[in-house]
Amino acid sequence: MASVSAVPAPDASAPSLKVSEADCSTNGRAGCISSFKAADSVIELAPRREPKPDLTNLVFGTVFTDHMLTIEWTSSGGWQKPHIGPFRNLSIHPACSALHYAIQLFEGMKAYRGPDNVLRLFRPLLNMKRMLKSAERACLPSFDVEELLECIRRLVQVDQDWVPQSDSASLYIRPTFLGTEPSLGVKKPSRALLYVILSPVGSYFSTGAKPVSLWADPKYIRAWRGGTGDCKLGGNYGASIYPQYEAVDFGCQQVLWLYGEDHQITEVGTMNLFLYWVNEHGEEELATPPLDGVILPGITRQSILELTRKWGVFKVSERYLTMADLRCALKEDRVKEMFGSGTACVVCPVGRVLYQGENLLIPCLGDCPPLASRLLKELTDIQYGRTPNDWAYLV
Ligand SMILES: Cc1ncc(COP(=O)(O)O)c(C=O)c1O
Repeated sequence: MASVSAVPAPDASAPSLKVSEADCSTNGRAGCISSFKAADSVIELAPRREPKPDLTNLVFGTVFTDHMLTIEWTSSGGWQKPHIGPFRNLSIHPACSALHYAIQLFEGMKAYRGPDNVLRLFRPLLNMKRMLKSAERACLPSFDVEELLECIRRLVQVDQDWVPQSDSASLYIRPTFLGTEPSLGVKKPSRALLYVILSPVGSYFSTGAKPVSLWADPKYIRAWRGGTGDCKLGGNYGASIYPQYEAVDFGCQQVLWLYGEDHQITEVGTMNLFLYWVNEHGEEELATPPLDGVILPGITRQSILELTRKWGVFKVSERYLTMADLRCALKEDRVKEMFGSGTACVVCPVGRVLYQGENLLIPCLGDCPPLASRLLKELTDIQYGRTPNDWAYLV
């Protein structure tokens, strides 16, 4: 028989996560006041627990924990109580607007177990705010970001045994938000479902960091100004699979997404992109494209910018970079490193770019070059609690 119980309040020493009204940008269409409340959560424990998988050969996103969080919304009744219950299949109307018109969005974040056995999330409020922004773009209802974070904290606490005991594995958290309108009309949904599932993931680089090869061809565009590329809508990702297979056909691992007549470098696969080089003015610079509507505002990207600006050892810029800039800098031996950044890998060195039939070789000393290595270490030390930092949010 399933039981219902309450989860204790968060550790009072956890950092304050107050959100100002200005953070809840809603473009005047929806308020951030009307929301579910974590304190109303109902917890129904699963009658049996699944065995934990062997993390060494785990394929990403194939194994899920015992529980999930679901919160339903209707335009007439508002948000229902958050429910943490056994992991289960969803029952969805065949006309559901998420299935027909891709009214769907998601987030990706992780829970880490430190050597002190404490569970931490990494800057999770930034994921919540990005999710709220995606919801607004998808015409889904708004919610209080702190309340959702607290619901997620409770879910992770219920499934805490699933957070791997490891200094490189983690528990992936997948918040998802669907329009569940049971009609074929192309309109703002009057019903929605927000849910969160959890999946243990092994080490991204099980045999150490390996530089990736990229295929750069302007014929496919991931995002455009006025589009949805700066939000985490599922449709962006479904549409990226075909080019990804073409990259593999050309002997490359991932797509380097270009944009515009001048072939601006935007992102790589599902990561933000950084170029560490001596720029055209002779300055040592770490550069990444600006958030101008075609770039997903990555939490890792923001953290790398903030960390390196604090180091103050080279110029840090959000600026446009084109393939011509890269090709010229390579010819003049000005490129030091190039890497992707994201929650999955933290940083991922780039070793080669195939562009217009030419293989551009990026310097990649010892597979994970010095700047990428330093960032990987500093960020994972914070995530796993080896370096105390207020970016860590205690579960
Ligand atoms: C398109 C895209 N760019 C960048 C990122 C990196 O974002 P983050 O650092 O928040 O994981 C992601 C992953 O969410 C992504 O899907």
